[in-house]
Amino acid sequence: MKNFKIAVLAGDGIGPEIMNQALKVLELVEKRNDVSFELMQGNFGACAYFSDGKAFPDKTIAMCDEADTILKGTIGLGHAESQKIPVEERPERGALLPLRKRYNTYANFRPVSLPPGLSHFSPLKPEIIGEGIEIMIIRELVGGLYFGEKRRGVTEDGKRWVKETLEYDEDQIRRILHVAFKTAMKRKKVLHNIHKSNVLISSVLWNEILDEIAPEYPEVTVKPLLVDAAATALCLNPGQFDVMVMENMFGDILSDQGGGILGSLGLMPSACIGDKKSYFEPSHGSAPDIAGQNIANPYAMIGSVAMMLDMVMGLEQESRNIWKAMQSVFTEGYSTPDLSNSGSNIKMIGTDVFGDKIVAHLKRV
Ligand code: IPM
Ligand code: MG
Repeated sequence: MKNFKIAVLAGDGIGPEIMNQALKVLELVEKRNDVSFELMQGNFGACAYFSDGKAFPDKTIAMCDEADTILKGTIGLGHAESQKIPVEERPERGALLPLRKRYNTYANFRPVSLPPGLSHFSPLKPEIIGEGIEIMIIRELVGGLYFGEKRRGVTEDGKRWVKETLEYDEDQIRRILHVAFKTAMKRKKVLHNIHKSNVLISSVLWNEILDEIAPEYPEVTVKPLLVDAAATALCLNPGQFDVMVMENMFGDILSDQGGGILGSLGLMPSACIGDKKSYFEPSHGSAPDIAGQNIANPYAMIGSVAMMLDMVMGLEQESRNIWKAMQSVFTEGYSTPDLSNSGSNIKMIGTDVFGDKIVAHLKRV
C-alpha cells in the first residue's frame, strides 16, 4: 500500500470550511483504494501570524518539508484586518510566495473548464460558449515581477519612487515552456503563447526560447498572442483556446478572467508543480466577507484534490470520478450562492451539503 504524507494548510477566511469538504473526499478515496494518507495540519497565513507570530511558522515549514505533497486552502484577511499585520508578515508576502519559492513550484496549472451542461453558469452568451470551455492556463509561478528585485525610495526633492523588476533567466523560461508543450501534446496539440513582446524584452527572450524548443514538438501548433488581445479573445471566443502558457503576472490576471468567464472564481482549482514537491490550492482568495457562513463554494478546493490525486498519486480514475461527481451535483440543479445569478431553477445549498453530495455521488461509482 502506498502511503502519502499530506501537509494540510487550511488557512484563513473560507479556507477551513472548504478544506473540510476536501478532507471528506480524501477520506473516502483512502477507504476504497490501496492507499493511505497521513494528514498533518499546519498553521499558515494570517491565522498563523496571530497564533505563532509568523505567517509561515517554522513548524509548518518543517511539516511541509516532510510531506510528500501539500494541500492548501486560502489565505488573507479583509483590508482593515490586514493592517494589523506588519507588511512582511501579511499572508501573501509572508506565507504564499515563500511557499512557492521554497518548493520551486514553477508550473501552475489552472484549468478553466465549463462542461457543456453547465453553460448557464457563464456570463457569456450560449452562442459564444458553443461546445463549452475547456482551457488549461499554464502560469509560470516563481519568477517575473513577483520575485524580481523591489526597491523603494525618496528622491532628493522628496518624491517617493518604487522600482520592481521583471526577471527571468533562460532556464526558467525553458522549463515552463517544456511543461506547456508536453501538456499540449497530451491534449489538442495547440499551444497559445501569451506574451507582450511589442513592449517587454522579457517577452522577446521568452519567444526566442520558444522558437528554439518548438522543433522538439513538431506536432504542436504554436499560436502567439499578445496578452491584451488574449484578454479580449477569452471573452469573445474562448473556444479557440486549449493550452495557454504565460509568465507569472499575466497568468495571475488571465486566470482570474478565466474564473470570470466561467461565472465564478469558485470554479478555479489549481496545481502548483515543482520538480521535487508540488502543492494544490484553489485559485481564489479567502473571501473574508462570507467566511464562517457555510456558503462558500468548495468546488475549487475539491477540484484541487482531484488534481493532486491525478498528478502526484497516480489515482487518475478517482480524480475523474471527483470531477464527474461535482458536475453531477451541478447538473442536478444544486449550487452554492456564488452561482446564483445563473438561473431561477438553482437549488441553493451550503458548503457542507455540497461536500456531502459529492461524497454521496462518489459512493455510487
Ligand atoms: C493567486 C493569487 C496570489 C497571486 C496572491 C494571493 C498573492 O492571486 O494565486 O492567483 O497573485 O499569485
Ligand atoms: Mg490571482
